Order: sequence, then C-alpha cells, then structure tokens
Amino acid sequence: MSSEQPCRSADTVRFTAVIGYPLAHSISPRFQQPAFDHLGFAVRYVARETPPEELPAFLHELRGPQWLGVNVTVPHKEAVAAAVDDLSTEARLIGAVNTVRKAGDRLIGHNTDAAGFLRGLTDAACNPQGVTALILGAGGAARAVAVALLQAGARHVTVANRTVRRAERLVATLAASFDAARLAAGPLQAEAVRPALRGAGLVVNTTTVGMAHGPAADDSPLAAALLALLPPGALVYDLVYNPAETPLLRAAQRQGYRTQGGLPMLIYQGAASFELWTGQSAPVELMLAHGRQAMAERG
Ligand code: ATR
Repeated sequence: MSSEQPCRSADTVRFTAVIGYPLAHSISPRFQQPAFDHLGFAVRYVARETPPEELPAFLHELRGPQWLGVNVTVPHKEAVAAAVDDLSTEARLIGAVNTVRKAGDRLIGHNTDAAGFLRGLTDAACNPQGVTALILGAGGAARAVAVALLQAGARHVTVANRTVRRAERLVATLAASFDAARLAAGPLQAEAVRPALRGAGLVVNTTTVGMAHGPAADDSPLAAALLALLPPGALVYDLVYNPAETPLLRAAQRQGYRTQGGLPMLIYQGAASFELWTGQSAPVELMLAHGRQAMAERG
C-alpha cells in the first residue's frame, strides 16, 4: 500500500534521491542523509545518475511506494516539470521542478530554488520587497531567482546575459505573469549594465563564471570598476557555492559591499524539499554544517 507519510525506523526503508546527469558534483546526499537520520526516519537518500534516456523509466519507478520523492537537477528540471501529474505555483512559473513529492502514486512537482534563494537573501538582511535587482545570466537559475524576487515584491528586475536574446526571451516569458514595467533585459556588457548597477540594491550572479573547475573559474562576471557603481550598502549574491568565495565576492568585499555566497541557498532549497517530503521542520543548522564539511573536504 502506498503512503504519503515517510517511515519511522520500525518500518520498511523508503528512498529519496537526487537525479541528474552527470551527478559527480552533487553534495545533496551529504547533507540530506544526516537530516533523515537525525529525525529517525528510515529513509535512504542516494545519488542516482540518470541519463536522459532513462528518465521515463525512472519516473515510472518513482510512482512505487518505496519512493518518498526526489530532488531533480541538471538536465532534467524542465523534462520532469512536463512529466509530473501536478505542479506547484512556483514550479509552474519557473517552468522547472527541483523536487518531486508523492501523493499516493501521483507525482507533484515543486521548485524550492526560489524559497532557498529568498532565505539566503533574508540571512544577508536584504528585504526583497521594493528592491531593484540586477540578475547576471539567463538560464534556469536566473529564472528561479527572477520569479522569487518578483513574487516577493521586487520593484524592478533587470536580466543581463552574455547572449542577449536569451535574456530577452526570459523577460518576455516572465511578462506573461508579472507586470512588464518591472522587467528589463540587456547584454552583459559594460555600457548596458552601468545604469542598472547605479540603481541596484541587489546583484545576483547566476552565471557559471567563477565556478571552480569551470572554463571561467578565475573570472568575475562584472569588472571591479563596474561593481564600484553600486550604491553603498548593496548586496552582491553569488549562486556559485564552489568556491565559497568567488572572484566576484572577493571584489565586492574589497569595495565594502555586503555579500552572500551560494551554499546557504543550496542547503535551504534542500531543507525545503525535506519538509515537503516529511511534513516536519528540517534540521537546517545540521544540514548547513554537513554541507560546509562536504565542501571543505573537496578543497
Ligand atoms: P542554469 O540553468 O544552471 O542557470 P545554464 O542554463 O547553463 O545554467 O546558464 C548558464 C548561464 O551562465 C548562462 O546565462 C550563460 O550565458 P549564455 O546564455 O550566454 O550562455 C552564462 N555563462 C556561462 N559562461 C559564461 C561566461 N564565460 N561569461 C558570461 N556568461 C556566461
């Protein structure tokens, strides 16, 4: 018999997983498993590398009672959004699913990236209500951040991207759900971002620039001279979590701006997934400690 409740230790073990392809980089099992263990759930959280051609079979398997739900990462977030039985409001607006929970054998798609991002913002004492924000990048992460900010009452959001058409497309699709006057798109070039930087209380990097082992690991998506245009007190938030201190964050700190890295968001989106699966408050501090430990071990 299927059940919506996770099992306590006397019961049969149920499974959760992160699915993606490739998956070598994922630290989700490192902070999710301790959370289940801490609260005494008989749940195993595994990394399940899933090539795209195996996704349909996995989603079929997921309907079985042994599965509590899953986290979904690149490249499956959009495909899973199209395949589940129902979507949360956030998942529908973002067009991507990072968490599937079960309702019996039905699959319900959620997106906890937006909530995780906002909780990281709150940690950094930045109120999204009325904020003017500049988002660097126009991929899935940028979309989640834009939806989070617009839903939370941001006054204006500019999306700047290397490939300007992608930024324009993102803003055009967001304008179907939010007031177009609150949105702008442009190229990630000095001339274009200058005016947006001068009026921004928040800059969010969602590009892969500065990410360890990536093609632009030593770079910043914004030159230091551009960063200096931000008003005093602005927050620079980098979604990159490896390394903890990216070239962008180092430059921002040197110039006296407030900063936030990507690890808290990663943990908070996972904590929100945990709460969807279990119906209980996640042990967030414990998850953060395990996440930091996992990153420290990676060097
Ligand atoms: P995700 O879905 O995780 O956000 P993505 O869709 O691969 O990831 O998006 C990566 C983002 O990083 C894109 O905005 C990409 O810009 P393009 O749309 O022009 O490809 C941006 N990006 C990657 N490398 C970059 C670089 N060297 N300079 C500037 N932007 C870069």
